[in-house]
Amino acid sequence: MTAQSRDIDGLAQLESEAWPSGLRADASTIRMRLLRGHRVVVAAFEHRFVAAACFYHTAADPTNATTFPRDFESFSTSPASTPVRSTYVYNLCVTPAQRGRGSAERVIDAVICDARANGARFLVGDGRCPSYAGTAGPGPDRIRHDPQFQRAIDDWLCTGLRPDLRLLIRDPVLRYYHRRLGCEFLHLAPGFLPEDRASGGFRVIFAKPLGAARAGDGP
Ligand SMILES: CC(C)(COP(=O)(O)OP(=O)(O)OC[C@H]1O[C@@H](n2cnc3c(N)ncnc32)[C@H](O)[C@@H]1OP(=O)(O)O)[C@@H](O)C(=O)NCCC(=O)NCCS
Repeated sequence: MTAQSRDIDGLAQLESEAWPSGLRADASTIRMRLLRGHRVVVAAFEHRFVAAACFYHTAADPTNATTFPRDFESFSTSPASTPVRSTYVYNLCVTPAQRGRGSAERVIDAVICDARANGARFLVGDGRCPSYAGTAGPGPDRIRHDPQFQRAIDDWLCTGLRPDLRLLIRDPVLRYYHRRLGCEFLHLAPGFLPEDRASGGFRVIFAKPLGAARAGDGP
């Protein structure tokens, strides 16, 4: 289901459960995004939101790294635009107690259906990579630092050459997206969200081409 403006407090509550501090959207941020044409698909359990994904349709071309939003602030606040070329998705999250139960898949599937229905050719996201530095201290994330993955990202930044897929999917979030969406990792976005210290501020921008759906296809 798609959240409405009356659901903003429930969405902010989910953000506070699912994200480490510093990465949570508060009610006023969520309200501003909705006013810019963004939407939020949610899954609920026992009258509470347990999973969400924010998205908007845009005329932007995700494959051009020089015109891609420079940082998360701009990625998550750009107004929706037409003609629809891409659907940009961000802040996929599941409350910790409900992880591993398929709700992330349900909200992503709903975003993909909406993207296709609106004629988007790409589903595009900003993949976190929290094993770059790993998580420490209190918070819902429990991700280990992976020195080999960190080296791969640092080399990508230095050389501009995308590392081998096997190295990228050492990270649990990038592996999740690759396995779930069969997406391609397009470009490295340094300093995209400095507050995401586990990810070293990096995001790995990914895209899933959305061909016309065929009978029997999943999303
Ligand atoms: C990413 C996320 C939405 C996946 O939801 P889920 O219900 O756990 O999804 P699934 O059960 O289908 O997949 C589990 C996989 O996600 C991985 N994963 C990704 N991020 C994770 C996280 N922060 N904590 C634990 N596991 C995570 C697991 O390692 C597992 O992969 P594996 O079996 O290859 O190790 C959820 O873990 C989450 O909300 N994470 C925090 C927010 C976040 O980082 N969102 C990504 C934004 S780019």
